[in-house]
Amino acid sequence: MLDTFGRPLKSLRISLIDKCNLRCQYCMPEEEYVWLPRDDILTVDEIGELVDVFSELGVDKVRLTGGEPLLRREVVDVVERVAANPDVGDLSMTTNGVLLAKQAESLRSAGLDRVSVSLDTLRPQRFEQLTRRDRLHEVLEGIDAAAEGGLKPLKINTVVMREYNDDELSDLIDFAKDRGAEVRFIEYMDVGGATRWTMDMVVSSSEILSRLARHYGPIEPLRDDGSAPANRYALPDGTTFGIIASTTEPFCRACDRSRLTADGMWFLCLYGAHGIDLRRPLREGASQDEIRSLIVRGWTNRADRGAEDRKALGLRGPLYQIEALRKDPHREMHTRGG
Ligand code: GTP
Ligand code: 5AD
Ligand code: SF4
Repeated sequence: MLDTFGRPLKSLRISLIDKCNLRCQYCMPEEEYVWLPRDDILTVDEIGELVDVFSELGVDKVRLTGGEPLLRREVVDVVERVAANPDVGDLSMTTNGVLLAKQAESLRSAGLDRVSVSLDTLRPQRFEQLTRRDRLHEVLEGIDAAAEGGLKPLKINTVVMREYNDDELSDLIDFAKDRGAEVRFIEYMDVGGATRWTMDMVVSSSEILSRLARHYGPIEPLRDDGSAPANRYALPDGTTFGIIASTTEPFCRACDRSRLTADGMWFLCLYGAHGIDLRRPLREGASQDEIRSLIVRGWTNRADRGAEDRKALGLRGPLYQIEALRKDPHREMHTRGG
């Protein structure tokens, strides 16, 4: 199944909950948000049924996200249900790590293959400034538990923001290396809740590379192993890391992903304005065939390349202001799962 640009649908990101226990400046700068109605949240079985349909249509990579997916009480049941689908070859999770230490083992036994943990700083005070919560020690314990529990390959996601954490690039590389993990530096994006985004705060992929080359010596690009969105590189000593250059070098051309919100809205592009409601037909008793047709129609008509369109605008501010986000929380990154 190909979209209008010939892109196949391979990857589904499922947000399990819109809530989060941190308040990262680039994602949830406010304290309070308009949350999705509780009754609208898909049940474990509903998620499982949808994954079954998606997998018949080519999806073989599933990533569980949030908000913070570990806040979802049935997270282990979801993992078990999705892992039971033999077509899902890669089942991963993106988490802030706060609750990971407690759950790493049961997630692994339930069938989770790997995790990517968000970590933007190694300094406790700075962590509290960036996330409004004093929980760095729990994240670090979570990362250790994931490494020990075999949730591999373990990735650390770092959003780089100028004058917030751009002086920690090498510290984060060394930290990840010590734990057998790979850090991926992510360019600050103007998406969803990033209402305070400015281009000046973006540290571009090329700037990251030249800074690291000054520190470590020549950096070698690694061959693309098809694992977009990250470009991977090696330091002179062989340590590898990735850069996700969504802002300055968007990769919409190779985008094979779509996202399901916790309340069953299916979004194609991270920047997409409208989603396709899959919850309603599911709850009204639509057959698997009918759900399948909705998905086929949605994907085969897909023509969006949000990050490239944003880049083409040139000078720009954030995608949304807070009023627009309050009007429709589906526009939030914490609702559509990054
Ligand atoms: P793997 O490569 O399979 O490990 O996963 P991933 O990199 O897709 O997942 P992860 O959640 O770790 O994504 C890292 C970050 O890349 C996200 O948090 C986003 O910032 C960015 N990203 C993910 N998907 C997209 C996308 O479709 N478009 C853009 N522009 N950025 C994305
Ligand atoms: N820019 C870049 N990445 C973001 N994320 C959330 N908001 C942004 C943003 N404005 C991503 C980060 C984080 C994950 C949960 O979502 O990668 O680690
Ligand atoms: Fe931070 Fe992720 Fe929570 Fe957003 S959803 S506030 S990026 S931890």
